[in-house]
Amino acid sequence: MTGKVVVITGASSGIGAALALQVGASGDIPVLVARRAELLQETAHRCGGQALALEADLTQRSETRAVVEQTLARLGRIDVWVNNVGRGIFRQPSELTDEDLDEMLLINVKTALYGMQEVLPHFRERGQGHVINVSSLLGRMPYFLPRSAYCAAKHFLNSLTASFREELGETHPAIRVSLVSPGLVYTDFGRNALHGGPDSRGLQGGQSAEDVAAVIAGVIASPRDDVYTRPGSRQQVLDYYSRTGEDA
Ligand SMILES: NC(=O)c1ccc[n+]([C@@H]2O[C@H](COP(=O)([O-])OP(=O)(O)OC[C@H]3O[C@@H](n4cnc5c(N)ncnc54)[C@H](OP(=O)(O)O)[C@@H]3O)[C@@H](O)[C@H]2O)c1
Repeated sequence: MTGKVVVITGASSGIGAALALQVGASGDIPVLVARRAELLQETAHRCGGQALALEADLTQRSETRAVVEQTLARLGRIDVWVNNVGRGIFRQPSELTDEDLDEMLLINVKTALYGMQEVLPHFRERGQGHVINVSSLLGRMPYFLPRSAYCAAKHFLNSLTASFREELGETHPAIRVSLVSPGLVYTDFGRNALHGGPDSRGLQGGQSAEDVAAVIAGVIASPRDDVYTRPGSRQQVLDYYSRTGEDA
């Protein structure tokens, strides 16, 4: 079997589905994971080759472990694991509830933690592997108030990603850990946000899921640590903190 085996979480729609199609077209083998089995099957079919669709609720550690086990049983190895599951929220910071925070951490942080931890024994055994965590520009700067709890969760994910990279860099330097930070992307993300809010597709200045997927596909081909999907994003973050930061 040639080509990398690439597990993509949240592959039933949006960025994950677009990435699965590009991975399949490049000759690598995508493993598509999400809850909506029919959509997964349809997309996997369009990927061609040996693409695999696995239905799982990745907020459950046991189901994440089952994805690792089923992929290894069917394809024999995992080369890349893309933690792409995520969900927004639409609620002002002063209105946030315990349940809001629990949901944001579960879906945006714990799903990625489970993914990293459950695939790690396999990567350690092989002495190589690649984790890609899909974060957000909002994980760098909390500039959109109704998404405050999502911003905080993605900040958490960024920090966790950096810590994983540092830990593994000491013992297993051939296991790479990448962070990818898109800005606004035209997907169902806005519509799927907790408590509703505007459809992202009605907003100005976004990217297509295909454009973001192409950047992630580039990171699969040539691993890098920390990647924005749009030119100018890094400067935007620097500008944000040069406006808000104060010296002692
Ligand atoms: N769109 C944007 O503006 C934007 C910007 C920056 C970053 N991002 C990030 O990009 C990533 C992908 O988002 P998207 O824009 O493609 O949104 P999306 O279309 O809403 O995709 C979310 C995906 O996650 C899956 N998912 C949700 N809960 C799940 C669960 N419990 N178990 C398994 N799968 C689950 C969904 O599939 P099922 O419902 O079938 O399970 C779906 O495939 C997210 O991490 C998001 O935070 C998005």
